Amino acid sequence: MKRIVILISGRGSNMQAVLEANLPVKVAAVISNKADAPGLETARRHGVETVVVDHRGHDGREAFDAALARQIDSHAPDLVVLAGFMRILTPGFVEHYAGRLINIHPSLLPAFTGLDTHARALAEGVKLHGCTVHFVTNELDRGPIVAQAAVPVLADDTPETLAARVLAQEHRLYPQAIRWFAEDKLALTSDGKVRFLGPCDADSVLISPREKP
Ligand code: GAR
Repeated sequence: MKRIVILISGRGSNMQAVLEANLPVKVAAVISNKADAPGLETARRHGVETVVVDHRGHDGREAFDAALARQIDSHAPDLVVLAGFMRILTPGFVEHYAGRLINIHPSLLPAFTGLDTHARALAEGVKLHGCTVHFVTNELDRGPIVAQAAVPVLADDTPETLAARVLAQEHRLYPQAIRWFAEDKLALTSDGKVRFLGPCDADSVLISPREKP
């Protein structure tokens, strides 16, 4: 069974969705860069080992990422899962985990990389918004796309209501993507795309219907 390590910084609802999805993986540890991340308690309740690597205790990004990598590697994961881990990672770190580091981002990438994606989507007046699971590369919020879920943007949406609708899809999409990894159904092509080994293409796009008022 494949081993995964999940990195969080806060609430950890995506982590929780992964823990509760009965995936064919061993969650070896949950690591947070913040000691007060509420997700740590959720992980403990699920019987998962938790570790804190506080970024403030390190002299710069390189030192923090080296300490983080030491902790991760002590659990020998096949896959490292970023679940609301709000740190920019150094090129050396990303290189070390090439092909085995994935992230979920709350937008339909490549639109709205970075922060405040829901408010920015509303400000642009887009009609579709959503979330993306992708392998991590050295470009912020870019990298081979595994799956995307789209939600309609409604006329009376606020950043909060839109975020909630997207988050519900994140909780479906991320466990599905990790299941594919665990089942060896994901391959990376030389031109930086994800190829599915098996019939998952249809499930890599989720479109949530517009709810009737
Ligand atoms: C999620 O919406 C996730 O997509 C986002 O942070 C939230 C974490 O929530 N991640 C990013 O913005 C990364 N660029 P959670 O802690 O409840 O999973």
